Amino acid sequence: MDYLLAIESSCDETAAAVLDTQGRVLGETLLSQMDHLPYGGVVPEIAARAHLAHLPGLVDKALRRAGIEAAALGAVAASTGPGLIGGLIVGSSFGKGFALSLGVPFIAVNHIEAHALSPRLPGVSEREVAFPYLLMLVSGGHCQCVAVEGVGRYRRLGGTIDDAAGEAFDKAAKLLGLGWPGGPALERLAATGDARAVSLPRPLLGRPGCDFSFSGLKTAVAQIVARGDARAEDIAAGFQAAVADVLADRAGHALAMMRQTGSAPGLMVVAGGVAANAAVRAALRTLADAEGIGFSAPPQRLCTDNAVMVGWAALERLRLGEADGLATPARPRWPL
Ligand code: KG4
Ligand code: ZN
Repeated sequence: MDYLLAIESSCDETAAAVLDTQGRVLGETLLSQMDHLPYGGVVPEIAARAHLAHLPGLVDKALRRAGIEAAALGAVAASTGPGLIGGLIVGSSFGKGFALSLGVPFIAVNHIEAHALSPRLPGVSEREVAFPYLLMLVSGGHCQCVAVEGVGRYRRLGGTIDDAAGEAFDKAAKLLGLGWPGGPALERLAATGDARAVSLPRPLLGRPGCDFSFSGLKTAVAQIVARGDARAEDIAAGFQAAVADVLADRAGHALAMMRQTGSAPGLMVVAGGVAANAAVRAALRTLADAEGIGFSAPPQRLCTDNAVMVGWAALERLRLGEADGLATPARPRWPL
C-alpha cells in the first residue's frame, strides 16, 4: 500500500485527507459547516445533510491536491464513532463504498483514538512522542483524561460528569451575549478583563480522581450576569481562569494516577478545540514543567476535528495488521 484516504464526519467538520504510509499529508480538505450558526449549536440533521452534500467534492479535491488517482489508494479509513450518528453513517458508508469499489481494506477509526494518537504524527510534536503519555482531550463534545499506553491501549482515567469544557465555554459565552462557537469570543473578551474581580467556583478541585464538572461554574456565571453588578470582561476572565485551574488540577491527579499504576508518562498532550485557549495551555504547561514531564499541544488545525488524524490512527492500526470488515457499524457511543 502506498496511499490512504481518510474521512472525518462525526460532528460539524466534513474533511478528507490523503496520507502516504509514512504519515506524510499529501492532500487535505476541511469544511467547517456554517449552516448551524443561526441555531447557536450543531443541529444533527443539518450536519448529516451537509456532510452528504460536501463529502464527495472534498474527497475529490483531496485526491487532486495529492496528485494521485483513486485507483492508487491502498486503504480507506473513516471515523465510525463516537459522534452524531447521521454524519457518521454518511462518512463511513462513503468510505466503505470507496474501499469496496477499489478492493482495498476499510479501517473504522474511533474518533477519540484519532485525537489520542494525533501528537505522534510526524512533524507535529517537537520531540518524538513515545508511549505512555497523558492526553487531556478538551473539546466541545469530549472532555476526558486518557492514559495512552500504546496503539489500542487506552485507559480512560476520568472525564466530565456533565458538560464538556468547550460546551461550558459556549454556554458561558451565550450568557455573556457572545456568538457561537463562544470559546474564541470569550477568550478575546477575557483578555481585557480582571479575573480577580469576580469570585467563581472551581468544581471538584482537589477531589480524588480526575473527573470534571462544569455545570456549577456555568450556573455561577448565570447568577453573576443576572445580578448585573460585574463587567462582562471580568466575568469572562474569571470563568476562563476557573476552567484553566480546574483542568490543571485534574491533569495533576491524572498524572498521579498513571504513576501509581506503573505507567509513568514522559509527556502530557492537550488536544481538542479548548486547547486553542492560551490560558488553558499555559496552566497545563506550567503543571507539566512542575512535574518534570514534557508538554505538547499540536497545532490548532490538528487539535480540532480533521481527517489527517483519522488517517494517522488508521496507519498506526494498519501497521499492526489491523483492518475492519465492511459490516462494522457506525456507533454514536464508542468508549475507548
Ligand atoms: O474540537 P472541537 O473543534 O470540536 C469538538 O467539539 O469536537 O472543539 C470545539 C470547542 C467549542 O466548544 C469551542 O467553543 C471551543 O472548542 N474553543 C475554545 C477556543 N477555541 C475553540 N474554547 C476556549 N478558547 C478558545 N480559544
Ligand atoms: Zn473531536
